[in-house]
Amino acid sequence: MPKAGGRTVSAAWMICVFLGLGACQEAAETKQPEPVAFDLGFDMKTLMTHVIEAAAETAWDSAGEVVTAEGEKDLAPVDDEGWYHVEAAGATLVESGNLLLLPGRNPGKEDWTAFSKSLSMMGHRVKDAAKARDRHALFQAGADLYSACVACHQVYALNLPVKVDLNTNSDQVTD
Ligand code: HEC
Repeated sequence: MPKAGGRTVSAAWMICVFLGLGACQEAAETKQPEPVAFDLGFDMKTLMTHVIEAAAETAWDSAGEVVTAEGEKDLAPVDDEGWYHVEAAGATLVESGNLLLLPGRNPGKEDWTAFSKSLSMMGHRVKDAAKARDRHALFQAGADLYSACVACHQVYALNLPVKVDLNTNSDQVTD
């Protein structure tokens, strides 16, 4: 293999010498990257529920308090592993903004781009708050994250039933 590679290089070099180095430099500069075939097998609904909402729920379920039979319960993580999961959820939300901008998902509208970038921005805030173990910043980031979801839905998913509710914790946490 190295031999074959060496031969290819020297053949290319000979052509460069023959044509003049300038020609080769120009060819290298104008070479376009191969188009990438993104896997867009998930429709928007699956991306929303299985990636974006799943990550957002982790953030929302880790901030604030719920009232239980035993009294008020703080939802903030209690150990490094718990905080790490919130950090990871924040990172997923940052990248989710990018996923929404992929060709094939991006309708090419300026506001869509702004809503997607705002999702990434809120993801950073969730991640930073979790990294800093700052439960108040995490709560605020969660509230602003919710507004970022709603802002896009109000334009692009008007028929969406209002399912995402920041207060859903109270009926999910029993202890
Ligand atoms: C850039 C735009 C955009 C952003 C930001 C966005 N969404 Fe969506 N969302 C959509 C669109 C478009 C649909 C409609 C998808 C469909 O059913 O075709 C949708 C649908 C949904 C659905 C319904 C899926 C179903 O069952 O039909 C949920 C749940 C959802 N989004 C959650 C969220 C959450 C949570 C966030 C924020 C953390 C968020 N979305 C941010 C565009 C967005």
